Amino acid sequence: WVLMHEDITAIRVLKRDRDAIILAHNYQTPEIYHGVADIVGDSLALAREAMRAKAAVIVLAGVHFMAETAKLLNPDKTVLIPDSRAGCSLAESITAADVRALRARHPGLPVIAYVNTSAAVKAEVDYCCTSANARKVVEFAANQAGTDAVIMLPDRFLAANTARETQIRIIAWDGACEVHERFTQADIAQVRAQYADVVVLAHPECPEEVVAASDFAGSTAAMADYVARHQPKRVALITECSMSDNIASANPGTEFVKPCNLCPHMKRISLHKIRTALGTMSEAVTIDPDLAVRARRSVERMLAIP
Ligand code: 13P
Ligand code: SF4
Repeated sequence: WVLMHEDITAIRVLKRDRDAIILAHNYQTPEIYHGVADIVGDSLALAREAMRAKAAVIVLAGVHFMAETAKLLNPDKTVLIPDSRAGCSLAESITAADVRALRARHPGLPVIAYVNTSAAVKAEVDYCCTSANARKVVEFAANQAGTDAVIMLPDRFLAANTARETQIRIIAWDGACEVHERFTQADIAQVRAQYADVVVLAHPECPEEVVAASDFAGSTAAMADYVARHQPKRVALITECSMSDNIASANPGTEFVKPCNLCPHMKRISLHKIRTALGTMSEAVTIDPDLAVRARRSVERMLAIP
């Protein structure tokens, strides 16, 4: 506790000295989320906030693709990632060459990449999407291209869960989130058997049968909103474990019950590494300028969809 307190105090001083802000994803630990973050949110909110940030330095407390997206959207700022090894099984599941091959196999179809991808992959696609706007982007892209099908990569479960909500045919890639793919229908049955009144909220990176067995599916921000709006007596958030820890204090009337899984990549970020990043101004995210121009286009096209 003493060390944690020391880190929090030091980070607050460094933020002022460096003219820095900390953007933290909902899966960061509570000491980061409540102790030092200036803005917290889902991937979409963090992208929007990174774009409009006025501070000289943005520390992205999250995984690497999030820091890359922040840099794409606000290239004049220094974007720091406290541990550049914080990856993502989805981002690692597909390369730029894979996207080119997919496009060649399905000529004329718009290509949509989940933001959980590298800048090199974003540079090859027409639009990005997040879990908060996937259906909207799919329908917009198909409409603009005059097609009844789109390619959506790399998460096969987000693709399948989005396909259930739209008439547009979705051609998917075979990636998966190593955290969410582990949840099963049996997990949901078990928590319902244990607590008859439990409300089950799932992230759309979960397998279709898990989402189908849940009461609601949405991005991490949508899950937090659901709890705040409905104030269920008991809720299971079928997602990363820090999510419940982070929103518990704002919802004292709700009991948060398991299951949950940890993301080892998100958990690479710590208070101490944030302090070191601000102290040493490293690691700064860099993106090849030509690649950045092409990658930024797909993210900006997503953000421009009304
Ligand atoms: P959202 O916060 O956009 O729902 O994304 C979840 C996620 O898996 C980020 O790694
Ligand atoms: Fe990637 Fe899944 Fe971790 Fe999110 S939770 S960073 S999608 S591995």
